[in-house]
Amino acid sequence: MQILVTGGLGYIGSLTCIELIEAGFEPIIIDNLSNSKLQVLNRIEALTDVRPVFYQGDICDSAFMQSVFSAQKIESVIHFAGLKSVAESVSHPLEYYANNVNGTLVLLHAMRKANVKSLLFSSSATVYGDPKVVPITEKTPTGATTNPYGRSKYIIECMLSDLFQAQSDWSITILRYFNPVGAHPSGTMGEDPQGIPNNLMPYIAQVAVGRRDVLSVFGDDYATEDGTGVRDYIHVMDLVEGHLAALKTVSKKSGLHIYNLGTGQGSSVLQMIAAFSQASKKKINYKICPRRPGDIAQCWANTDKAARELNWKATRTLLDMATDTWHWQEKNPQGYV
Ligand code: NAD
Ligand code: WQD
Repeated sequence: MQILVTGGLGYIGSLTCIELIEAGFEPIIIDNLSNSKLQVLNRIEALTDVRPVFYQGDICDSAFMQSVFSAQKIESVIHFAGLKSVAESVSHPLEYYANNVNGTLVLLHAMRKANVKSLLFSSSATVYGDPKVVPITEKTPTGATTNPYGRSKYIIECMLSDLFQAQSDWSITILRYFNPVGAHPSGTMGEDPQGIPNNLMPYIAQVAVGRRDVLSVFGDDYATEDGTGVRDYIHVMDLVEGHLAALKTVSKKSGLHIYNLGTGQGSSVLQMIAAFSQASKKKINYKICPRRPGDIAQCWANTDKAARELNWKATRTLLDMATDTWHWQEKNPQGYV
């Protein structure tokens, strides 16, 4: 069964392709390489003995998208392609709306034309903004987003909901990721941020491997146990397994399905540093700095709905996340080269 994977050479998409192949699906990858490298295709092949069909192209290109659907027998789409830097979205909002919102629109038009009505979409806990109450359930209000990236995800969710209201034979699954971290356990595939990492885990990893001198801890005066920000970090392989679970269950049924994909547990920045020190046996240099503008104090998921309906639960620990990130970082200090 062919699954179109947009953004399939990126961090989460590429690892999803591995699991798809192992589960007997045939991923068809589209990526414009704006935030990934062709080398990833070799790594997928090395791990699975399968070189997936790959189209280098842009999801915003309507003729290109229609040509892919015409050439293949796609049954379902997992839509990862998008730009994801919060800071960049603030300085380049139009590029974010064009790529994320318009790209999704073009994809949906091409799906409708090809009569493909099953979609899994990568959304984000960012749609919840700064939640009043944790843990966050799928019923927690959305929309009070704090940056253009978050708004692009929220707008896409609204579009998908409107589409489903109009065409109830579609199966649309919105997966709201919390904080994905970690790497493939082989250490051959993982996150490869370009330039200075924005996110905590890749930054810690680059300090541990000697690429950066010191981690800035953004604030130690939050109303949390140790004063640093608390997030629901989820191992990327657990997240990927969540996609497979959704693909095998709800994506076969028409409906608008929405799930939080997290672990249900919050961890602080200092706890992450401690886990990484333990995994890498390295001291992580850090300094306490002012809060990062726009950051929230804490956020973690209630994951009961996914457990109940997808029969899926994250199982990997913080130490697993740190250990796998470290293996990837140590073996590939400059990422995919
Ligand atoms: P990533 O940047 O590693 O992967 C995205 C891929 O999409 C890249 O390979 C990029 O080249 C490709 N791409 C971007 N725009 C494209 C376009 N117009 N046409 C074709 N390809 C395009 O990001 P990721 O971490 O794997 O995230 C995947 C998805 O999950 C994104 O939509 C992201 O917003 C969402 N998400 C990520 C996180 C996270 O922390 N990583 C959290 C929540 C949601
Ligand atoms: C985690 C914690 C920081 C870096 C972002 C996006 C969100 C989602 C995931 C896509 C916070 C602290 C960080 C550093 C630090 N992406 N930190 N020093 O902000 O929860 O979420 O990525 O959808 O939309 O907003 O993740 O990893 O940046 O930060 O102290 O150098 O680490 O303050 O408490 P965040 P993060």
